[in-house]
Amino acid sequence: MFTITTERAEDGPVIDSLLDRAFGPERQAKLSYSYRDGVAPLAHLSLVARANSHGSLVGSIRYWPVAVGPRQSPALLLGPLAVEPLLAGQGIGRALIGQSLDMAAWARHRLVLLVGDESYYGRFGFRPVAAQGIVMPGENPARLLGLELVSGALAQTAGSLRPWRSLRGGPDRLGRQAA
Ligand SMILES: CC(C)(COP(=O)(O)OP(=O)(O)OC[C@H]1O[C@@H](n2cnc3c(N)ncnc32)[C@H](O)[C@@H]1OP(=O)(O)O)[C@@H](O)C(=O)NCCC(=O)NCCS
Repeated sequence: MFTITTERAEDGPVIDSLLDRAFGPERQAKLSYSYRDGVAPLAHLSLVARANSHGSLVGSIRYWPVAVGPRQSPALLLGPLAVEPLLAGQGIGRALIGQSLDMAAWARHRLVLLVGDESYYGRFGFRPVAAQGIVMPGENPARLLGLELVSGALAQTAGSLRPWRSLRGGPDRLGRQAA
């Protein structure tokens, strides 16, 4: 079995190795990483799973702050989420998502977005948000999913995702200039 705890600073290299194995070493070229560049993950929502038998790190979930649309509505970008491949299917992913979403709701976050498969994330209530007018430029709209933590949050949010960093000025690594 496993235990979910908050991430510690020394977990970083082990998490990087797990993410490389889960997504491949080219993972940082994915569009979603451009929203993470230069912005720290939210520490209160960065959770890890550890095997009870030997204490090794076997799963990780992190969230980044993003802004949506001209109103710069704050939202969470869930991911990356990864589970040690040898331990897939034992509920580690479900526990990491469930506990972190509970904590996000407790912390009064309103909306969670992610890029992923609805076939997996649909069981947690995530649905495509393209119809609400939320877009991640360059990403397949069917893979941009959202979950309201506060009823009505989706109806109050529309527009393009922007990295939180862009609100502080200066171009991001894709050359997008802050408005
Ligand atoms: C996706 C992932 C996080 C799931 O973790 P996990 O601990 O194996 O998941 P759980 O044990 O909680 O859930 C397993 C269930 O999810 C299903 N599942 C796993 N990946 C899926 C996918 N891509 N699409 C649809 N269903 C999927 C399994 O078939 C299983 O279904 P069941 O409950 O009906 O038997 C893990 O497989 C992983 O790290 N994959 C590689 C990285 C990745 O794709 N991350 C998510 C995108 S950000």
